[in-house]
Amino acid sequence: MIISKSISKLIGASLCVASLLASCNTPTTEQTNATVAVDTSKIVIENIMARRSIRQYKPQPVNRDTMQIILNCGINAPNGQNKQSWAIRVVDNPEFINGITEVFKEKNPAAKKSPSFKNMFRNAPTVVFIANDTSYDMSQIDCGLLGENMILAAQSMGIGSCCLGSPTRFMTETPEAAEYLKQLDIPEGYSLLYCIAFGYPDETPAAKPRDASKIKFID
Ligand SMILES: Cc1cc2nc3c(=O)[nH]c(=O)nc-3n(C[C@H](O)[C@H](O)[C@H](O)COP(=O)(O)O)c2cc1C
Repeated sequence: MIISKSISKLIGASLCVASLLASCNTPTTEQTNATVAVDTSKIVIENIMARRSIRQYKPQPVNRDTMQIILNCGINAPNGQNKQSWAIRVVDNPEFINGITEVFKEKNPAAKKSPSFKNMFRNAPTVVFIANDTSYDMSQIDCGLLGENMILAAQSMGIGSCCLGSPTRFMTETPEAAEYLKQLDIPEGYSLLYCIAFGYPDETPAAKPRDASKIKFID
């Protein structure tokens, strides 16, 4: 009885506050849209500015459902004539990652000496390989935009990444790596361009400086 009285008092008070808010302070649709826009842009800009290249990761690969969200963000990037001139291969199989890393270590004995070295993809457990259409002159731009969409989507979900050029250069230029390149099943007319390491971050690197003098407004 006491409880139900208190509840009815509480409901009464809440209704009073709600009707007061509704009558005195109802934002217009424009105000609501503006507030949402400011909040959204703040979140998006903070996400961009907080991103760092991550080179130390926790061992577990990124959950495949989460990777699927990241990949969907990637393929929704702007791209020339909507040709979607990319081929994307996702590898989270430790046998592949460790196997190609053994080939890498044979050719780069110094890599083994670093105590933090786990694999040639900056120690990441999940790697997305991206190949470009060699018959289309804008394809590398498409592939770059695809990658940045994935990197920022990952960042927003607490997943670290590192854009990587040297491992794919190694794979395309080293005959001993051919077996692994073949496993990626890159289509005819496409060429492995770069890869992106993904994983749960195990470091918090500082921001690298940027040179704002490279920007000029032309009047
Ligand atoms: C095309 C490209 C290739 C890159 N290749 C490598 C690489 O092979 N190894 C590596 O550790 N980082 C690589 N990076 C990451 C850059 O070193 C990194 O983005 C840059 O130093 C700025 O640091 P930040 O990403 O933390 O802002 C590459 C980045 C890009 C865009």
